[in-house]
Amino acid sequence: MTNKEQSAEIATKFENIFRCPLCKSPMRVVGLKSLMCSKNHTFDFAKQGYVNMMTRTSTSRYDKKLFEERHKINMDSDLYTTLHKKLSEIIKEYRNIFIDQIMILDAGCGEGSHLQRILDECQNEAMTGIGLDISKEGILMAARNYKESIWLVGDLANSPVADKACHVIINILSPANYMDFKRILVPNGLVIKVVPRANYLKEIREALFADTDKEIYQNDETVSLFKKHFQLVNNFHLSYTKELKSAELSSLVEMSPLAWSSKKEHMDKFINQDSSKVTIDLDILVGVNKQID
Ligand SMILES: C[S@@+](CC[C@H](N)C(=O)[O-])C[C@H]1O[C@@H](n2cnc3c(N)ncnc32)[C@H](O)[C@@H]1O
Ligand SMILES: [Zn+2]
Repeated sequence: MTNKEQSAEIATKFENIFRCPLCKSPMRVVGLKSLMCSKNHTFDFAKQGYVNMMTRTSTSRYDKKLFEERHKINMDSDLYTTLHKKLSEIIKEYRNIFIDQIMILDAGCGEGSHLQRILDECQNEAMTGIGLDISKEGILMAARNYKESIWLVGDLANSPVADKACHVIINILSPANYMDFKRILVPNGLVIKVVPRANYLKEIREALFADTDKEIYQNDETVSLFKKHFQLVNNFHLSYTKELKSAELSSLVEMSPLAWSSKKEHMDKFINQDSSKVTIDLDILVGVNKQID
C-alpha cells in the first residue's frame, strides 16, 4: 500500500472530522485518493500522504532547511524533551474525561515532531493526531516521517476540521484563533497553548542581537485573551537549561526566525562555540472549552 493510500485509509476511519474549508460542508474520502465535500470541492492526498486544504496562496519564510533543523533539534537533542513530557502528562491527566477515541490537533505543527513525541509519550492507541500548518514544506516533512497521524496544509483561522471534532488542541509557539479552536473542540475539550517567557532562548538572543535593544516578551495580554475564551485551569511555568554542542547550536540558529534579522558574524560566533547552555523558559496555558452543548 502506498503512503497516499495508507493516509487515505486513516482519513476514512475519521471521515467525520473534516469540514470543507470552502463551503463548510462535511467531507468524505473518495477512491482512497481525495477528500470531497457534498458540493464536490475536492482536495487530493499528495503522494507523501498529506492533504493540501489551503484555499488561498500563502507565502512563508519557513522553508525546508528551517524545518530540517527543527526536526533535528526536536528528535535528536533533548532540548524539548521536558516540554514533551509535561504536555503528555497534562493530556494524560485529562484523558479520562473523554470516552473512546481522542483526537489531538496540533495547530501550527510545523514539521510535526512535537506532536509525534507527545503521542509517543502518551502511548495510547486510542489517540490520533492531526497536524495542521499553513506551510506545505512543514507538512510534507511531517507526512513523510510520521505515517500514523493526519497531516493537513491549512489555515488555523479557517481550519478544515469539523465542529466538535477534537478533544485536545495543542498550540506550541504558534499563532492561534480562539474562535475556531472553540468551534472544533468538544464541550470541555482541552486547549494547551505554549508561549515564550522573557528568558526563552536568551543565550541565542544575547549572541545574535548583542548590539541592539533586547526584545522583552510580555505574556500578560496573551494570558488575558486566553482567559476571555477558555476557563484557565492551569498555568505552568516551565524553565530549564540544556547544554548543546556546536552542531546543535548551528541547528538551533538555523531553525529560528531570530536568524532572519541577525548578522552573520554574530551567528558564526554563537555556532563556533564548543558548546553552550540554552534556556527554555515557557508558559503552558491550559484551558477548558466551557461552551454549553
Ligand atoms: C514558530 S513556528 C512553530 C512551529 C512548531 N509548533 C514548533 O514549535 O516547532 C510557527 C508555525 O505556525 C505556522 N503558522 C503561521 N500562521 C499559520 C496559520 N494561519 N495557520 C496555520 N499555521 C500557521 C507556521 O507555518 C509555523 O510552522
Ligand atoms: Zn465544499
